[in-house]
Formats: sequence, C-alpha cells, structure tokens
Amino acid sequence: MSKTENFAAVEVIAAKRDRHELSNEQIDWVVDAYTRGVVADEQMSALLMAILLNGMNSREISRWTDAMINSGERMEWSALDRPTVDKHSTGGVGDKITLPLAPLVAACGAAVPQLSGRGLGHTGGTLDKLESIPGWRASLSNAEMLAVLQDCGAVICAAGAGLAPADKKLYALRDVTATVEAIPLIASSIMSKKIAEGTSALVLDVKTGVGAFMSQPERAKELARTMVELGTRAGVKTLALVTAMDVPLGLTAGNALEVRESVEVLAGGGPADIVELTVILAREMLAAAGINSKLDPAEALKNGAAMDSWRRMIKAQGGDPDAALPVAKEKIEFLADSDGELIGMDAMKVGIAAWRLGAGRSRQGEQVQAGAGIEIHAKPGEQVKKGQSIFTLHTDVPERFARATEALSGALRISSTGEKIERLPLIIDRIEG
Ligand code: URA
Repeated sequence: MSKTENFAAVEVIAAKRDRHELSNEQIDWVVDAYTRGVVADEQMSALLMAILLNGMNSREISRWTDAMINSGERMEWSALDRPTVDKHSTGGVGDKITLPLAPLVAACGAAVPQLSGRGLGHTGGTLDKLESIPGWRASLSNAEMLAVLQDCGAVICAAGAGLAPADKKLYALRDVTATVEAIPLIASSIMSKKIAEGTSALVLDVKTGVGAFMSQPERAKELARTMVELGTRAGVKTLALVTAMDVPLGLTAGNALEVRESVEVLAGGGPADIVELTVILAREMLAAAGINSKLDPAEALKNGAAMDSWRRMIKAQGGDPDAALPVAKEKIEFLADSDGELIGMDAMKVGIAAWRLGAGRSRQGEQVQAGAGIEIHAKPGEQVKKGQSIFTLHTDVPERFARATEALSGALRISSTGEKIERLPLIIDRIEG
C-alpha cells in the first residue's frame, strides 16, 4: 500500500462511464491495484458496470486480459515430449465432454493440461463430477501436474491460487453485481486462465441455446470471436466451435451419473450426441496441436486406447476407476402427460432441476451431492406414451423432489399433430484465428 498510486480509481471509472477508451496504463494499474486491495470493491463494481454498459475495444480487452495474466504465475510445459492442447467449454447441461475427451486426445498423442473449475448455478463443474470417483483428488502441485501429464498424457485438476488471482477476485465480484454477462469480461476471464495455463493450442466450445449462459447464437459467436482473437494474439493456436445447448447433452445431468455415462463413451458406447461432439472436438484439438495421429479418435474410443488413458489418469490422481460410483438414496419418475412425438426438452429447466436435487451449488464452497441428478429416458424426435417415464430424479434428500419437479414443469413439448422439431444443429459455427 506504500506504493505511490498512478491514478485515482474515480478517474478511471469516470472515463469508462463517459465512453472513453481506457489507456494501457490505466488498465494495468486498475487491475493490479484492485488485486492489491487499493481499489475498493465498490469502485471496481462501478467500473465493471461501466464496462458492461459501454464495452471495450479489442486493444482494451487484450490489455485487460494481459493484466489479469500478469497478476499471477504462468505455467509452462517445455519439459514435455508432446505438444499441449486444451479445450474449454462455456458450460451447459449434461456437458461432460471433458471427461472422455481429455484421455481420448492423450491416447492420440497430445498432452492435455486441463485446469478446471467447480460448478455454480445450473451447469455442473468438471471437478465436481470427477470428485464423485472414490479417492480422486482435484488439488495437485505444479510438480504433480507435470508428472501426471508426462505419465498419462492428460491431467484434469483445480487451478491453484497462483493462477490469475485477479480473475478470482473479479469473478466473485461480478457474480454479485450482475456483471457476469459482459463479453469483454467473460472473454478476458476465460482466456487469462487458459493463456496462463501455458497450453500451446486451445479449442473453445462456446455453447448457445436456452441451457447456455449465452442463449443467443449471435452473442455466442461474438464471444467466440473475441476469445479466438485473444488466444491468437497471445501466440496460442486457438479456434472455437459454437455448439447447441438447447437440449441437454447426452442422457444424464449430475455428477456421478455423468461420470458413468462418460465411462460408457470410453468403453465404445454411450449416447450418439456425446460421442459425436467428443470425436469432433478431439479431431480439432489434434489438428490444432499439429498432430497427425495414425489413430483416429473414433477408433480410439472403440479399441480401448482412450479407456486405458482414462484409467491411468484417474489412478494417478488417487482415484479408483473400478470402484462403484455413489448412488443417491432416493429416486422418483417424471412421466409424460400425453402421447405423441417429443419435440422439445428445455435444457435450462433440466439443469435447474438437477441443481435443486443437489447436483449443483448455490453458493461458493457449498457441498454437492455426488449421486444427485437426472437420467433422461427419451430425447426430442422420439415417440412417447402418456405415463411413460421421461426422467428419473435422484437425490439423497427427498424434500428436494417437489422443487425439482416444479422446475421441470413445461420442460417437455409433446406433439400429436406432426409439429416440426425446432432444434439447433449440434455445430452452429466454427471460428478460427
Ligand atoms: N467462466 C469463466 O471462467 N469466466 C466467466 O466470466 C464466465 C465463465
């Protein structure tokens, strides 16, 4: 605090309020001073709201991202004998793709250093899912991370406190000041962590549709373009796919339930949409890493190579890949209320129901239930009969069933009149740097 400060926070806030560009020096200072506690939460809140309302140009976004990266450590993997590549999804209901994808890409010759987060709200977090495997540990030191990456080709673990600490503070503040939705802030938040993580290539899966936090495809494309530009400028080979999140991915939403489904995919089975997206992303990742693998990802799911990588990766982090997964104590069925074709399933409503059953958390630090969640027995395009079970709801706390069932009200559209299914295509756009 003894440092002489270069600017007054009020002047920086006023500049953005009045739609001026922030200078590089102002951005470097305000991010650093906020991280040091010199700029107060109420001042940063006002600046974030001004950014949300008035935007930032690409120079400002790039500098803001660099300032967040420079607030902490930068990892590097030059000791590895393989190129690194990672993927990041902006999150969706039933989106367990990272689980089969990381070991699959490792089996095809790349190294995948994946720093993941825990879920907040209606979308689950990769670490919460993996923590349902008995013994599995999310926290690794940098040396342990390198060892797992070298031995298994993939590591999925929690980002340490030293990685982009400015983002940790800013994200918590955005969460309580209605400023999460600003594209410059989302793009810089995601990309500061991915660039600091030290990956050489990155594939972004930007979700859009009712179950995604960027529900409008045009906004999702803008976010994708912004992130691709940031990665490319930082020397990371970056591309983005904009993909559908109108309907849940696969047939499960919930931690242990999603691990079970991922293991089915690694065993060569699993739902078609999960397999398709996993294989598409794996091919993109290998191409971005410059790996011309003789083993195609679709083949590596069938011949056991991806499963071998998964088992090694889980064991290396203390997990038992053969242990039974937790199962919730109670379950009930949610039935179709008419005969006809299922033409819609609202991903957001399914996500909220899974969250209310205990699969997600409402506050940071809250415990999640490993066994809670939803199994889906029919997807849009299928014929259903009145009284047929469409969802099985799982929880340890039966009092949660009422609120979860309430969330599912209106989640299904069943038509007996030949109405067309309105679905987004799985891959909506592809944006390359
Ligand atoms: N995920 C992040 O890491 N940051 C955001 O701002 C939004 C999603």
